[in-house]
Amino acid sequence: TVYDSTLIQLPKVFNEKGNITAINNWEGIIPFTIDRVYYLYDIPGGEDRGGHAHKELEQLIIAASGSFDLMLSDGTTNKTFNLSRPYYGVYMPPGLWRELHNFSSGAICLVLASEKYEETDYIRDKEEFKRYKRNIENAFKEIS
Ligand code: TYD
Repeated sequence: TVYDSTLIQLPKVFNEKGNITAINNWEGIIPFTIDRVYYLYDIPGGEDRGGHAHKELEQLIIAASGSFDLMLSDGTTNKTFNLSRPYYGVYMPPGLWRELHNFSSGAICLVLASEKYEETDYIRDKEEFKRYKRNIENAFKEIS
């Protein structure tokens, strides 16, 4: 559920000449091994991104520059994070619908991902996502 998504404070090496944040797999700061890094940038004013869910992929999303809102939904409950600091990240477990809104100009949305890009892992239709969640829930009820 959305309650499994969490804001993670990242280490910050402070320096008067500029700060550094490093994320190493071996430190266990985030609960998955990073296989892919990508970032969104040059986002035109007023545009929204996301609008999909992943079946298996785990991600950490960071506002490396500027700010944006991350809206998560598990099909029942919504949760919104306002990201505006490069030393915070939101951990997203699999099975959450995500939308990105209100990008500031020059915003950079940095994403650390547990798997390679795989189109079959995406659910891009909200109704299909809700059906998918209901099916998982029902299957879980049957075995418990
Ligand atoms: P998508 O994840 O749908 O964008 P967003 O959710 O940010 O709106 O990705 C858009 C396209 O970019 C996708 O159809 C293929 C390409 N893409 C890659 O080639 N590799 C990647 O790792 C990602 C995330 C996207």
